[in-house]
Amino acid sequence: MISKVAVIGAGQMGGGIAQVYAASGIPTYLYDTRAEAVKKSIALSEKLLTKGVEKEKISKEDKTRTLANLIPVTELSALKDADLVVEAILEQLAPKQELFCKLDEVCSADTVFASNTSSISITKLAAATKNPERVIGLHFMNPVPVMKLVEIIRGLQTSDAVYERSKESVIKLGKTAVTARRDYPGFIVNRILVPMINEAFFVLMEGIASPEEIDDAMRLGTNQPMGPLALADFVGLDTCLAICRIFHNELGEDKYRPCPLMVKYVEAGWFGKKVGRGVYTYFQ
Ligand code: CAA
Ligand code: NAD
Repeated sequence: MISKVAVIGAGQMGGGIAQVYAASGIPTYLYDTRAEAVKKSIALSEKLLTKGVEKEKISKEDKTRTLANLIPVTELSALKDADLVVEAILEQLAPKQELFCKLDEVCSADTVFASNTSSISITKLAAATKNPERVIGLHFMNPVPVMKLVEIIRGLQTSDAVYERSKESVIKLGKTAVTARRDYPGFIVNRILVPMINEAFFVLMEGIASPEEIDDAMRLGTNQPMGPLALADFVGLDTCLAICRIFHNELGEDKYRPCPLMVKYVEAGWFGKKVGRGVYTYFQ
């Protein structure tokens, strides 16, 4: 039974994950190395919940209870009684491994360690911890409060009990769980989605069409809610590139090479919507 959750990383994903667990009635800690990120994230949740009340999608009581269940913390040691920790920090192996090693010292032996990684091996993350059977992938989709899917990824070492507890926690959120039975880069969704996004950058780089034309073509021609370039901005070009690089390195095929134009945008710091500039320009 999961009765307390901790979310680490209060960026666009961590904030949403904390909000949905809090809304399901579970007290949820939110921690980030930048205290201002936690404040900003809770303020955004409050804004979204207020919008939900105005649109009569949730009651005022739901909003109050959800906000009361969101507990900002400034020290990792405050997470010691969490039954489930969901890590949603930046998409890099070393900081995630380092974090799980620290959590080994803080949490009890039966706390589940979940990663929201988009592409990093759960098996590799697990191998860095003292108790690899407790590590699992819980891959929420962006924006978390809206998207119905959570991919569950079993590392080679993940125990059946940890898998069942994690799955139950996802179903209690009202989400649909789909399990990647094997832990290969990108799991199910990103293995298919990110090569499409990367290809859209090649189409742009080759001058075949403008960003708007590429996005219109895919939106109107294949009924996607957003075109691939707008989606790349929404996800974050830094995250998209990190995923492409893992595919290229670990699957070892040229077809996964990151588009040089995407690399350039990331070098320029044009990470997408979260920084105000990506393929498109946004007002902050
Ligand atoms: N957080 C919470 N709620 C949000 C939100 C956010 N960031 N952005 C939009 N919403 C909500 C709005 O409040 C609105 O809710 P109501 O219907 O209750 O009013 C609803 O979503 C629709 O929003 P809008 O009317 O403003 O805009 P829209 O109809 O264009 O929808 C969208 C926005 C939901 C983002 C839609 O464009 C969409 O589904 N886009 C594709 C998203 C997608 O593919 N996500 C997966 C990305 S890949 C991934 O996550 C995996 C990875 O590892 C990279
Ligand atoms: P983000 O850049 O919006 O947020 C990351 C947050 O982590 C930042 O607030 C940062 O301060 C914090 N952080 C960094 N190192 C930390 C540490 N050691 N301890 C605590 N906090 C730390 O990133 P995001 O888009 O929310 O992505 C987070 C994770 O979720 C990544 O693994 C990403 O691949 C994955 N993911 C992203 C998306 C997406 O659409 N952006 C979708 C699914 C999964």
